[in-house]
Amino acid sequence: MKFLTIDDFDFKGKTVFLRVDMNCPIDPDTLEISGTKRIEEIIETINSLNSAKIVIASHQGRVGNKDYTSMEKHAEVLEKLLNRKVTYVNDVIGSAAQNEIKKLNDGEILLLDNLRLCAEENYEFSGSNAAKTIMVRRLSKLLDLCVLDSFPSAHRSHPSIVGFPYVLPACAGRLVEKEVKKLDEIMGVAKAPHVLVLGGKKVEDRLEAIRLLIENGRADHVLLTGLIGNVFLRAQGRIRSTIGIKRENEIVAKAHTLIGEFPDVFSTPVDVAIEQDGKRVELDIRELNKDDEIYDLGPKTIEHYGKIISEAGTVFISGPAGFFEKEDFGYGTKALLEAVASSMATTIVSGGHLSSALKKFGLVEKITHISTAGGALVRYLTATKLPMIKALEESAEKYKAKK
Ligand code: 3PG
Repeated sequence: MKFLTIDDFDFKGKTVFLRVDMNCPIDPDTLEISGTKRIEEIIETINSLNSAKIVIASHQGRVGNKDYTSMEKHAEVLEKLLNRKVTYVNDVIGSAAQNEIKKLNDGEILLLDNLRLCAEENYEFSGSNAAKTIMVRRLSKLLDLCVLDSFPSAHRSHPSIVGFPYVLPACAGRLVEKEVKKLDEIMGVAKAPHVLVLGGKKVEDRLEAIRLLIENGRADHVLLTGLIGNVFLRAQGRIRSTIGIKRENEIVAKAHTLIGEFPDVFSTPVDVAIEQDGKRVELDIRELNKDDEIYDLGPKTIEHYGKIISEAGTVFISGPAGFFEKEDFGYGTKALLEAVASSMATTIVSGGHLSSALKKFGLVEKITHISTAGGALVRYLTATKLPMIKALEESAEKYKAKK
């Protein structure tokens, strides 16, 4: 690792900006946090900084989405998990936030509101331009050091991720340190055939990464599920229904190009489950009507995917296979995780949903590496340098803070 870690600094009495990723699943009806795994994962880092004045910052959701909420409830969860007081301020860069930062004493913790309330945080910047944003200019005056621990958003070059390390000495938090160490170990020994099982909703991010993974020899077979599976089914002309995503035609066209370029790599579902009169109904993909919404995989698809997984050298699985929150539609996600857990391959499970599912099904011990990161992890496996890692390495070069 070419970046610094918490062990390289003395944090006593220093005001530290700690960028974490507490972007949690939010129940769309109650707006309550429905999974706290990402908050649990940052506890070790916070406890390692205990004599510092700690300013914690995270994003939650995307502007315009239902999961785009304030961080007030995160502060409550954090306080309970840490068993230490966490002051929450419903401000990010205004005078309220600045005053709270100035008031901090050694060992005290402040949580800022959702970083994406600040317009700048919704855009990508180079490190030098991010350093010129209002966010970084205002807050860095009050800060001594920066700790980056938001591994799930390491692929974003937002001001909080690349701007602060440009102007402050920066190091990785415990989560980033652990993830990078483990993933580098795995990448060093990973064997072919590489099987990628991809589901979930962030289709656009995934499409870009698929090409890089195939070109880098990290995806000999791509088994598609979830919304991204529907996009490829549509591109193959095997379903007629609309997918319900933004810029659908463009996205389906991209999938079509990928299939044309790599015709032997992709597998799509042959049978699926839909909901009819509140019940699960399984259908061959050819029997689907235009308005049927796919909620899960069917048994023939599981058998086909399971065989490919059982012959893999390395399996990477990211994103649920369907609407697994609904009891009748968790079958595909569970069956795929069981197939991954019982294979002899090196196995990596990615994303908050699948990590919780593994716990629920008692499969945690059978997996080589579990990460709550989704898109960032897919990117990491493509061997492209993530903006956060680049920022940490450049900061290490610049400040040579090693004792
Ligand atoms: C994630 O959940 O993948 C990270 O928190 C990044 O979120 P984003 O895709 O909205 O940037």
